[in-house]
Amino acid sequence: MQVETSSSKYSAKHYPDTIRSWKKEGNYFSFYTSETILEVRVISDKIIRFRYASDGTFQRDFSYATSDTLEEFPIAFGIKEWEENFEIYTNCIKVLIARDNLRVTITDLTGKVINEDEMGFHWQHYLQKGGKIVYCSKLIQEGEVFYGLGDKPTDLNLRGKRLENYGTDAYGFQKDTDPLYRNIPFYYGLHEGIGYGIFFDNTFRTIFDFGKERDNVCSFWARGGEMNYYFIYGPDLMEVAEQYTRITGTPELPPIWTLGYHQCRWSYYPEKKVRDIAAEFRQRQIPCDVIYLDIDYMDGFRCFTWNNEYFPDPVAMIKDLAAEGFKVVVIIDPGIKVDQDYNIYQEGIKNNYFCKRADGALMEGDVWPGKCVFPDFTNPEVRDWWAGLFKGLAETGVRGVWNDMNEPAVFEMGSFPEDVRHDYDGEEVSHRKAHNVYGHLMSKSTAAGLKRYLMPHRPFVITRSCYSGAQRWSSVWTGDNVSSWEHLWLAAVQCQRLSVSGISFTGSDIGGFIGEPDGELYTRWIQLASFHPLMRTHSASNETGFNQEPWSFGEEYEAVVKKFISLRYQLLPYFYTTFWQYAQNGTPMIRPLAFVAQHEEETHDCTHEFMFGDSLLISYVNEAGMKEKEVYLPKGTWYSYWNDETYTGGQHVTVPTPLDEMPLFVKAGAVIPFYPVMQYTGEHQLEEIILEAWYSDSITKSTLYEDAGDHYGYKNGQYNIIRYKQQSTPKQFWLKKQYYVNYETSYTRVRVKVHGLPFTPELILGDGQAISSFTLHPETKVLEFVTEKGVEEIIIK
Ligand code: GLC
Repeated sequence: MQVETSSSKYSAKHYPDTIRSWKKEGNYFSFYTSETILEVRVISDKIIRFRYASDGTFQRDFSYATSDTLEEFPIAFGIKEWEENFEIYTNCIKVLIARDNLRVTITDLTGKVINEDEMGFHWQHYLQKGGKIVYCSKLIQEGEVFYGLGDKPTDLNLRGKRLENYGTDAYGFQKDTDPLYRNIPFYYGLHEGIGYGIFFDNTFRTIFDFGKERDNVCSFWARGGEMNYYFIYGPDLMEVAEQYTRITGTPELPPIWTLGYHQCRWSYYPEKKVRDIAAEFRQRQIPCDVIYLDIDYMDGFRCFTWNNEYFPDPVAMIKDLAAEGFKVVVIIDPGIKVDQDYNIYQEGIKNNYFCKRADGALMEGDVWPGKCVFPDFTNPEVRDWWAGLFKGLAETGVRGVWNDMNEPAVFEMGSFPEDVRHDYDGEEVSHRKAHNVYGHLMSKSTAAGLKRYLMPHRPFVITRSCYSGAQRWSSVWTGDNVSSWEHLWLAAVQCQRLSVSGISFTGSDIGGFIGEPDGELYTRWIQLASFHPLMRTHSASNETGFNQEPWSFGEEYEAVVKKFISLRYQLLPYFYTTFWQYAQNGTPMIRPLAFVAQHEEETHDCTHEFMFGDSLLISYVNEAGMKEKEVYLPKGTWYSYWNDETYTGGQHVTVPTPLDEMPLFVKAGAVIPFYPVMQYTGEHQLEEIILEAWYSDSITKSTLYEDAGDHYGYKNGQYNIIRYKQQSTPKQFWLKKQYYVNYETSYTRVRVKVHGLPFTPELILGDGQAISSFTLHPETKVLEFVTEKGVEEIIIK
């Protein structure tokens, strides 16, 4: 054992010494030094878990992040003993463990270094607070860039930055504010085209340094707990994202209405106001599916109550809104008002469900209701009790719940003091270990409750704080942002980052939560958010009376906002398919360009362009008065969505940005499903859908997934997966369909629109039969015709 000098806060650093013995049990390998044990577990060909017991004893192996369904699937692996190291190999990688000091080097099969320890694992006593600080340091490879870490409001590439995870109520955060609301200790490295990921599953305050302190060293550490991380090999970053999501879990499919437009404000009340807002959407024909009730719907901010003065009959109100196609989502915070006459307070006190300080006193602190106590969501019994509390809201007709202030936020104190005690599923720990999972477990039990009582409907939860893995049950929004152009950029970056951190179902408060956007900023933000999985306007306009609705900025802006919200609804089948890919394979819905074109160095720092799903590339306008924008397009051919102009990728192109357009490109060869414009999901029984195809002379594949959009029939196979293969030549367009069909859609026809045909069409064949009725639009050159749903092959000559 090697040691360095100590200070009053920390002891000297301890480093592992020589390996004295080792053993293999199944896919677990253990290496023993004089003090430290390293356990290496081969989970798959590409996923290896490393755990270190600094003093020879492992802690309880328990995680709130990993999915219960994570299965081990190592194909082939083994170990070789060399003079200087041990080599654990799989079909894809080699893990070398140095005999002298336990340092780890991971290479591909050709010996190319993917990831390499600098000092590797080491630790020190945390003299000031107790326990140990556990570290791991790695060498930064030539040209390496870093991504990940959840919601950090900073450049996508994290090289040169130091960031930490300790959930914080960051009201009015700015660029580089850290820590923020969420705690996602997962990052990516990419060098020479090789991508990998490291998920440090530790719920204490975690810190990541990507070459800030020392240029060539990347290190991560936690102020307690165990050095316990998963290494995930790509080499494609998208595959790393999928594997990470496999470890931490994929979501169920959401009800399709949640992919529509959401309108929120702090707060819409009384009932008349809510009804008026809803009516305004319908009267102006601006699509909307969801209205939120912020804290003022409650009686004195007591959770699970209604303010009878503002909302005398919530059941009737929600029923009437439902008849107009609106779903209602209500806020629920963790703070329970200290009030002897309040049943939730009484129950919690009686059953000992609230958090306590180290000396046994209740953890009390001020939030909206005044003095509050806080359920200990780390106790499974409390989670079950909390889930049960949603029965009433579900019976009232509420279809989704918004969990807020769950970092946890406490006025003045910021959050809980570190001495607060938590059950932590039987472990009994201090707040230092439980802080980063408090909101995570609150949203987990909220989702469990909603699922229980909303059956057969699918639930919807949105949370502000969480830990890795919350995607299994919740969506998130980026928190209390500001009405500024910089925040529009931040929203774009944060949503890209969250998406590759396992959490695709995300969005920002459109227009900014704090402050007042002008029409131009609001409109440009709506455009960006049209391509975020969660599309919600929200604002803190309670005090100022400022309105932040799609029609608040005058006719010119309203028309553009309406155009984009309508486009969003038209694209719903594409959005839903993209969500299905995420739910199925963990594939991020929003994809930074570095993740789709990692071999093109120009993409590594791109924050202005991203892909949504397989086929759409989006940029956004983030400056007032911008008339044109330079956009990087990855290699390949791209069509402008607006006018079918084609562009060759691998370069920057400049496109005009009039107020009613944003840079939007379609990948050549794409086949994208569209719905007709609708005011809300389920408004009509669809009679037809629209399939738009963009010509390409190389073979391309596209997918459409469909099911009932609610309920769980899809889990019993009631869904359709339709795969389109376009294999065209400059003289013939050829589209072939392969499918699994087990869900009866209401539509019977498909309207086909083909863009970019390089020849004048004379003959259209649907399964060999000529389709005589078609239109070749003279200006756009788009060819349009209608086929029966069952047609499997379309040929155009
Ligand atoms: C917090 C939330 C915000 C909400 C407000 C009142 O600031 O982040 O979205 O409107 O509390 O509930």
